[in-house]
Amino acid sequence: MKVKQADRDSWLAKCARQGSGKLHLVRYINGGYQVRVVEKICLAGKDTMTPITMASSIAEHVQRAARRIQEISTLPQVAVNIMRVVEDPRSSAADLKEVMEIDAALSARVIRCVNSSAYGVRHKITNLQQAIAYLGLKQIRNLAITATVADLFRKSESIGRYRRTDLWKHLVASGLCARMLAMRLRFHNFEDMFLAGLLHDIGIILIDQHFHESFVRVIQSIKDGTTLVEIEKGILGFAHTELGEAVGVQWGFPDATRAAIRYHHQTASYRGEHLALVRCVEVAHLICTLKGMSSIGTNLLRFNPESLSGLGMTANDVKVVADDLDREMAEQMSLLQI
Ligand SMILES: [Fe+2]
Ligand SMILES: [Fe+2]
Repeated sequence: MKVKQADRDSWLAKCARQGSGKLHLVRYINGGYQVRVVEKICLAGKDTMTPITMASSIAEHVQRAARRIQEISTLPQVAVNIMRVVEDPRSSAADLKEVMEIDAALSARVIRCVNSSAYGVRHKITNLQQAIAYLGLKQIRNLAITATVADLFRKSESIGRYRRTDLWKHLVASGLCARMLAMRLRFHNFEDMFLAGLLHDIGIILIDQHFHESFVRVIQSIKDGTTLVEIEKGILGFAHTELGEAVGVQWGFPDATRAAIRYHHQTASYRGEHLALVRCVEVAHLICTLKGMSSIGTNLLRFNPESLSGLGMTANDVKVVADDLDREMAEQMSLLQI
């Protein structure tokens, strides 16, 4: 139950009287209070929850939001199947072809993209089998997922300096940049880097589409000295990173992609096996934002320098990659219009 500012003190008193009862008053970061029923002991006179209770409250919010998205829209089953097949090391080109050919329109978009100048084909590719043989399973997966996610951006929308089309550009640019970083750092999984970069801010477009009124307030609340995550948590109770990860579970995203979605703004707290990938995505996000291709039209960067040093990169390396990204973007224009 939401609590008005004017009623805050009487609710605090009620919680205090309750002693070890179950009512608790939660203060959200950007103002506003809510009374929650919790199993924790209520601390008299305190208007914040214990970390465990606060964490579970956020988790509840995220799960509820993710369920709502699941009810309204799902990633097409073909995209989910493509990710599942490509993640399975036993899969063959024939397996990928089998799941993709169910969607003729998607397959045609992928084939058209493979024939664009970006991939330098000598003889025109006319079917999926040739396309998969030419680019491999992971690159074809990436084209199919790019085409599917592009559909979320079909309807243009803008709020202040935020533009959906610019968010799409940020995602494609981050995917390309993460892949460039991975190649230059001699990582073997550069196509996984592309996918993670492409999807890292998917939570923003989901909030824009499914919680639009709150999203407008988020964008209008942007000011120097804050971060997008802080503003989202204050208004929605969860951040795009948390929602993106929860939806990523429902949509069957690979583990590494989910890690990048969840931790690209807080790599220091990530403790898993995909740390290099998460750091590459954070650096890619940084480079794209510094180049004026930000996710929300404003630069709210708060960057963890350990992400650079942990990858063995210097500020000069960032500059070199940033300069080369223009050429990569020009070559891969077909991805933006897939
Ligand atoms: Fe983000
Ligand atoms: Fe981003």
